[in-house]
Amino acid sequence: MPRSTILIIDDEPNILTTVRRALEIEGFAVEVAGGGALGLAKLAEREIDLVLLDVMMPGEGGLDVLPRIRAGYPDAMVVMMSGNATVETAVQATKLGAHDFIEKPASGDKLLLTVQNALEFGRLSRENAGLRARAQAEHSIVGKSATMKAIYDKVAKTAPTSGRVLITGENGTGKELVARALHDQSRRAKGAFIKVNCAAIPSELIESELFGHEKGSFTGATKDRRGKFEQADGGTLFLDEIGDMNPSAQAKVLRALQEGELERVGGTETIKVDVRVIAATNKDLAAEISAGRFREDLYYRLAVVPIEMPPLRARKDDVPALISHFLAMACARDDRRVKRVAPGAVTLMMQHDWPGNVRELKNVVERMVILTGDNDAIGEVDVRDALPRVQPVKGNYEAGTPFKDLVAAAEREIILAALDAHDHHVSNTAKDLQLERSHLYKKMRVLGIDHRAGTEEPE
Ligand SMILES: Nc1ncnc2c1ncn2[C@@H]1O[C@H](COP(=O)(O)OP(=O)(O)OP(=O)(O)O)[C@@H](O)[C@H]1O
Ligand SMILES: [Mg+2]
Repeated sequence: MPRSTILIIDDEPNILTTVRRALEIEGFAVEVAGGGALGLAKLAEREIDLVLLDVMMPGEGGLDVLPRIRAGYPDAMVVMMSGNATVETAVQATKLGAHDFIEKPASGDKLLLTVQNALEFGRLSRENAGLRARAQAEHSIVGKSATMKAIYDKVAKTAPTSGRVLITGENGTGKELVARALHDQSRRAKGAFIKVNCAAIPSELIESELFGHEKGSFTGATKDRRGKFEQADGGTLFLDEIGDMNPSAQAKVLRALQEGELERVGGTETIKVDVRVIAATNKDLAAEISAGRFREDLYYRLAVVPIEMPPLRARKDDVPALISHFLAMACARDDRRVKRVAPGAVTLMMQHDWPGNVRELKNVVERMVILTGDNDAIGEVDVRDALPRVQPVKGNYEAGTPFKDLVAAAEREIILAALDAHDHHVSNTAKDLQLERSHLYKKMRVLGIDHRAGTEEPE
C-alpha cells in the first residue's frame, strides 16, 4: 500500500515539529503549513490523504479553512485539533465536514489511532464511491442512434407511471438494462428490483418461487417462504423470459395482476401486494399465443406499453460508442490505462453482424483487452482474432423435437451451404470442411442429402 500523506496546518511551530516527528516515526509522509493559506497551497501541490487542522489560528481560523478544503479536495479527510475545544466548536466542525476532533497537545497512541481511523474511513469511502461509479457504468445505456433515442423517450415517459411494460428483442439487446432503467427512473426506485428468470426455474417450482409457500405444502417446503411478488412489494418485479412460463403459473400471474393479491402455495390467507411488473422475452409472443402456449389475456395485461429492442445490426452507428464504453469499463476493472482502438479495427467491428448483439460486442471488447496484454492499442489483427470465424448457424428449436433431430437439421444446413459454395464438388467441400470425403458422403446419406447435390458420384 502506498504511504499516506498527512498535512498539518497549525500556527505554532513546536506543534508542527512534534506532531510531524510522531507521525514520521510511524512511517507517514508529512507536510506542514503555518496557516490556512499555506495549507491550501500544499493541497494544490500534492495529493494529501489527511489534514490535521488547528482550530485557533490568527487571521483565518480552522473553521474558516475547513469548508474550502472540503469543497476543493473532497478526498482528503480532515481532523480538527484544538487546545480548548468546546462542544459547540466540535459540533460546528462536524457539520462543516470534519471527520474527527482531537485535543492538543496531540500525541502518542491517541494521535495515531485517530489518524489511522480517519485514513481507513477515507479509503473505504473512496472504494465505495468507485464501486458505485462502476455499478452505475454497468447500468448505463449507451447509444445515440434514432432507434435508441426513441427507446429513451419511451422509458422516460413510461417510468414514472405504473404502466406495465413488455420488453421484446433478441438475446443481448439490452432488455434487462431497460427494465432496470424503468425501475431507477420510477417513483419506486427506492423499493426493490426483483428479477425472476422464468426459463431457469423448473416449472413445478415456479409458482412457489413467485408466490411463496407455506410450510409443509409440498415435499421440501420445510418452512414458510415469501415469494418474489411479496419481495417486490413497493418496488418492481422483472419477469424475464416470460414466454417460457407454464400455463398454470400464467393463470396465477394474471390473477395477481388483475386483483393485486395472491395466495402462497398451500396457503389460505390472501396477501395484498403493490408491485409494478415489467416482463421481457426473446420469443415471438404473438406466435406463442397462436400456438396456444401463451395466454392472450395475460399478454394484454403485460403489454400496456410494449418496447421492442432493436438488434445491434440494425443500429451499427452505435457500435463505436459501445466499443468506447466497454473498453473504458474493461480497462478500469483491470486498473489499466484506456487502450486506443485503431480506426481500421472499428471499421471491422462495424462490418460484423453481431448475432449476439450488445452482449457479444461487450465480450469481444473484454477479450481483446485481455489478449492485447500490455499493448496500449487494439488493431485490426486483434479484432480478427477475437471475432468468431463463422457466424453460428441458428438452430431452430421446435417444442417436442428430440435434440438429435434439431442438430441434424443444423448439420444439413451447413453441408448444403458448403456444397453450394463449392459448386457441389464433394471433394472440395470435404477438404474445406476438413472432413474425410467418405465421412462427408456418409453424413449426406444419413441426413438425406441427395448425392446429386454433389457433382461427383459416391463411391
Ligand atoms: N445499449 C447498451 N449500452 C450499454 N450496455 C449495454 C447496452 N445494451 C446491452 N448492454 C450490455 O450488454 C449485456 C446484455 O444486456 P441485457 O442483459 O440487458 O440483454 P438482454 O436483452 O436481457 O439479453 P438476454 O435476452 O440474453 O437476457 C449486459 O452486460 C448489458 O449491460
Ligand atoms: Mg436478459
